[in-house]
Amino acid sequence: MMQVKVGDCILEIVKGDITEQDTEAIVNAANEALIPGGGVDGAIHRKGGPEILEELRSKYKGCPTGNAVITGGGKLKAKFVIHAVGPVYKGGNRGEAELLKKTYESALKLALEHGISSISFPAISTGAYRFPLEEAAKIAISTVIEFIKKHNSPKLVRFVLWTDDAYQTFSQVTKEISPNLS
Ligand code: APR
Repeated sequence: MMQVKVGDCILEIVKGDITEQDTEAIVNAANEALIPGGGVDGAIHRKGGPEILEELRSKYKGCPTGNAVITGGGKLKAKFVIHAVGPVYKGGNRGEAELLKKTYESALKLALEHGISSISFPAISTGAYRFPLEEAAKIAISTVIEFIKKHNSPKLVRFVLWTDDAYQTFSQVTKEISPNLS
């Protein structure tokens, strides 16, 4: 586990399962159709129960890449799930980096609008969507730091990494970026 202070806020890097987090919100790595898939998405819907999908169906038609929508957390510990749609990686020349940044910003903006003070993120787009891990980690960490510096919120942002590789990469990138924090 690794913690870094950013102003009054804390950025945390942990290895674990996003569905087990007790932060007010957890973020889902969703798709544009908002139809449950595998990975993080499958795990959230399995553990959270059918009411999350019912709420998605009743409120939203879908969600374009780079955007996010919010539902309750069903049976999960988290009160809210923010469903964020990261880009599919297609070589890196199709705006993937900008879209991944926008995905994190969209999720953080929704958290801000709902007064959410603690949130857990997975490594969006690094599974089925094949975004290279190190580049994804740099974008994820720098976007979160930029946002919390600007808004002084959320007070806790936790990255929950599933694999050793993802945990090591996110920790290393945080170490590289954090000395520049003031
Ligand atoms: N907790 C935390 N991280 C997890 C978990 C979990 N329970 N399960 C998988 N991961 C990790 C993966 O190892 C990967 O690094 O989350 C990262 C994101 O992987 P995906 O869930 O495949 O998400 P993504 O690459 O954004 O692809 C989204 O996959 O499941 C479908 O419906 C989803 O179509 C969408 C696509």
